Amino acid sequence: MKRILVTGGAGFIGSNFIQYLLAERQDIERLVNLDLLTYAGNLENLLPVQDDRRYTFVHGDIRDRKLVSELFETCDFDTVVHFAAESHVDRSITEPEVFLTTNVLGTQSLLDAARRRWNLEPDNKYCREYRPGVVYLQVSTDEVYGALGKTGMFTEQTPISPNSPYSASKAGADMVVRAYHQTYGLPVNITRCSNNYGPYQFPEKLIPLMLHNAQADKSLPVYGDGMQIRDWLHVKDHCSAILTVLEKGVRGEVYNIGGNNERANIEIVRLILSELGKPESLITHVQDRPGHDRRYAIDNTKITTTLGWAPAYTFERGMRETIEWYLQNPGWVERVVSGDYLDYYSRMYGEV
Ligand code: NAD
Ligand code: TYD
Repeated sequence: MKRILVTGGAGFIGSNFIQYLLAERQDIERLVNLDLLTYAGNLENLLPVQDDRRYTFVHGDIRDRKLVSELFETCDFDTVVHFAAESHVDRSITEPEVFLTTNVLGTQSLLDAARRRWNLEPDNKYCREYRPGVVYLQVSTDEVYGALGKTGMFTEQTPISPNSPYSASKAGADMVVRAYHQTYGLPVNITRCSNNYGPYQFPEKLIPLMLHNAQADKSLPVYGDGMQIRDWLHVKDHCSAILTVLEKGVRGEVYNIGGNNERANIEIVRLILSELGKPESLITHVQDRPGHDRRYAIDNTKITTTLGWAPAYTFERGMRETIEWYLQNPGWVERVVSGDYLDYYSRMYGEV
């Protein structure tokens, strides 16, 4: 792993991953971050690495096949870590189309470029030989498995059964990645992770949204009864799991990633209020999300037993540090919320 393409590296998990990887692996020669800078992309997340000579930002769209193939030609990547996506379930309910084009067709554009560049005989559809050491990693989600009842956990064998336009688009992308492995032999992995939390998460997602509102004494909109369960993982644990799969994963395999940390939404909201010393009267139960998945839970046996990965964070420590980060970075949140960060991009790059 010397020359890496990270897509969506200006988003929440991608920016944490770039910081993590550049700190962990000094032998990386080049890391290119291809990001369209949608509302969710924020170059401020990458200030700690922007002067690292190994790091380059490219403003562009994964659906732009010409750009993607030129990048593969000029940068000679041996590794792709694909984060770029439309990632928010609520937005997918009101604007599903962009989820399909970005998440499915964008993935296919990257797969085509990787196959073309890495296959030893790209014009021969029967050739399954690739340059040694190359790998394409698809960052996916536990949401492709659908919803659980009160018991049970998602394993890698659980049938795909998505319920939202977001999870359907991620499932579609996973199926295309699988097909490129089965048909062309492309060396791929798919990782399916549970809900992440940590620094740099856009305040449309549960934890930063509730933190932001609680700080401002605004009401905290809990969907339905708030008893939906998610399996929370600190973003740094997600990053270490991805690195483990890149370095030790068996190509063609799917790996579930989760921290055995199931919590009801209402529990998290109460925890945030209590940490901030705010009253529970701020909680407002609002109309439930349509098609809302009741429970997610990841069985992480495969990655822990076969690759030796384990999460390092307890939920208590992770939440304490996350709350502290948001309290210490009010400017980051304000700029994201007010849209000032768009000006920041144009100041930096002369365009948005
Ligand atoms: P995010 O919304 O914070 O970031 C997405 C990034 O992708 C942004 O920087 C955005 O500008 C970029 N992007 C969007 N469309 C693009 C395009 N067409 N071309 C190039 N860049 C584009 O998302 P996130 O929470 O960091 O999630 C990253 C990945 O991890 C996604 O694939 C998501 O499905 C997956 N995932 C997220 C979670 C979670 O809890 N957040 C859990 C499991 C899996
Ligand atoms: P979210 O962070 O959007 O992640 P996902 O839908 O991908 O799991 O939501 C996490 C949970 O929190 C989910 O059950 C929906 C719920 N939720 C609320 O109750 N209120 C909110 O305002 C938001 C954004 C989420």
